[in-house]
Parts: sequence; C-alpha cells; structure tokens
Amino acid sequence: MNVQNPPQKHTADATTVEEGLAIAEAQDKQYNDEMATETAMANTLLTPRFYTTDFDELDAIDVSSVREDWDKLIAQMEADPNKGHFKKNEDWDHVDWENMEPELKKEFIDFLISSCTAEFSGCVLYKEMKRRGNNKDITQLFQLMARDEARHAGFINDALREAGLRVNLGFLTQKKKYTYFRPKFIYYATYLSEKIGYARYITIFRHLEAHPEHRFHPIFKWFEEWCNDEFSHGEAFALLMKTDPKLTESFTNKLWIKFFLTAVYSTMYVRDHQRPAFHKALGVDPDWYAHEVFTKTSKLSEQIFPITLDIEHPRWQPTLEALQRANVDLADAVEQKKPLRKIWAQMRAARCFVSLLLIPANRHTVPATTRLEPAY
Ligand SMILES: [Fe+2]
Ligand SMILES: [Fe+2]
Repeated sequence: MNVQNPPQKHTADATTVEEGLAIAEAQDKQYNDEMATETAMANTLLTPRFYTTDFDELDAIDVSSVREDWDKLIAQMEADPNKGHFKKNEDWDHVDWENMEPELKKEFIDFLISSCTAEFSGCVLYKEMKRRGNNKDITQLFQLMARDEARHAGFINDALREAGLRVNLGFLTQKKKYTYFRPKFIYYATYLSEKIGYARYITIFRHLEAHPEHRFHPIFKWFEEWCNDEFSHGEAFALLMKTDPKLTESFTNKLWIKFFLTAVYSTMYVRDHQRPAFHKALGVDPDWYAHEVFTKTSKLSEQIFPITLDIEHPRWQPTLEALQRANVDLADAVEQKKPLRKIWAQMRAARCFVSLLLIPANRHTVPATTRLEPAY
C-alpha cells in the first residue's frame, strides 16, 4: 500500500461537499481499496442503498410557511460548529488491528464499511439535489447536509485505512445501483434514517461514557458531535414535510409512514443481530439496544408523524425475533444454494413483516411547530 504524500487538507476541514469529495478522490488514488469497495457494492436487501428522486418536485418546495424555524436551522448549520472535528487528534488511541479478535475484527470492519456507505449514500443524494436545484432555500440546505455527510464518510475512511482498507467513494458513485424513490418516500426514509442515526449514535455514546472499558475503538468518542449533525438533518426533513400537511395527514400517507417505520426498525434489528461479537465487545445487548433506539426514535418522530409503532405490543418483540431467524435461514439457504429453503425463508420473513405492519399503531396529535433540540 502506498501511503506516501498524504494530502495536505483533510475532509474534516472542507467547507463544501465539492471540496470534501476532491480531497477524498485524491486519497483514493493513493490507496489500495479493492476489498472494502467490493463489500460496499453488495446490493442485498439490508445493505445501505443509493437513492435518486424527482429533483424538480423537490426544488418546487416553498418553505415560507416554516420560514422562522427554517432560517434558524440554516443559520445553525451555516455556523458550522463541527468544522475540523472529524479527523484524528490526540484523543485517537492506537488501535491494535493485528491482535483484534478475528470475529470482532470482521464484524467491526463490516460495521465501518456499511456506515461509510450509508453516510456517502446521503452525501450523493444531497449533493445531486443541490446541483439540480434552483430554489435557493433547498440548494442551500442540501449543500450543507452534503458537506456534513462527506466529512462523516471521510472520517470513517480514516479508521478503515488503519486496517488497510478504504471505501473508494468515487468508484461507488459511478458503479453502485441507484434506487428511485418519489420525493415523499425520500422524506419519510431519509427523515427516519437521520433520526434513527442520531438515536443509535447517542445511545452508544452515552453507554460508553458510563462504561469506557468497552470502548474498543476511538471512533466512538466522536459520536456525540456526529449525531448532532444527523439530528439537524432530521430537523430539516421534518420542516420540509411540515410545508405540506398532506404528507403526514392523509390516510394513505399515514399507511406509508407506518410502512417506513416498520421497515426501518426491522431492518436495523436484523442487521444489528448479524454482529454479535461487535455488540458483545461494546457490552451492549442488541435487544436492549434496539428497544432503546426505537423508543428514542419514536419519541422524536412525534414531532412530525401522527403515529408511532407500538413497540410494547406483545407481538412486537417475538415477531422481530422470528424475522431475524428467517433472515439467518435465508442467508444459509443462499450460501448453500438451496432454492426451496430460500423460498420458504423468504415467505416466513414476509409473513413476519406483514404481522409487524398489522400491529395497531399509537396515535397522537402533532405539535404546531416541529423544532426540537438534541436532548438525549
Ligand atoms: Fe452523517
Ligand atoms: Fe445525516
């Protein structure tokens, strides 16, 4: 691996997404990256995807009905409190990759690659919106969010590079398959992924604050500021949805919201349960963690969604567990090339998902203004 001539500037200091990506591209040219990129390319149901949408429809949004909150949020993001934060400093402890327990190493690398891909997926979508739009409010917001995601992805790549790996971001942009989502689905999915991202990072951060002996890698020390960025991104999507009450109030859209809540929660549950060694090293029970993250995300999403999932319902947890088992069997069947077992596992997984969807939702009145501050 050639690590000569490191670039002078770091993605953490980039003030625009273009600058951040140019720095990342310069780094890509220097490092051998085949393995990490291959993992990030895998398009299974559970891995982070890349999205595209109807950018003209998004560009037509008028934020004047939420102008006061909007301007405050944008000013906060423009002030850029996290500029320069996402890079290694004296708090970055040495990581002994060589002697890391192999199972943990494998799962942790998988965690870093999928997190990096998810960050970058947000970056690409936001950057594209900024590039295609003419609406000043919208392009400004998306430029700021893309800037943050480029820094997040760049920082994870710093961590991966120590293990001899790197996700080649330029290559991913060109080669990964894009899934088209109508703008309203982008709002639901992206809003939720930003808020659940906040809940996930802050839960780990608070847990490790109380149990520093479980902090097996320094990147977790950066999670607090990190999740505050995700929190602001979620706030922006809440405001975007607030501009059009139909998006959260019509009967059909409420069903869609329920669908997205169920899909996002169950995907997280299944994906996290694929990493037992990782959670053991953190000293976190993945069932406790999932419940904690769902509770926080539900509480936050009450700012804009008129329904939350009833995660205390007697059917919720056992069905998630059955879904997780079906998923393990599905992966086995695919690996052993057993088509009948594969279909059977898929049917079981689908039945579990429908059963989760049919649990009656909790309803509540949405507040007149959406804005929240990160409080966990
Ligand atoms: Fe991010
Ligand atoms: Fe984000």
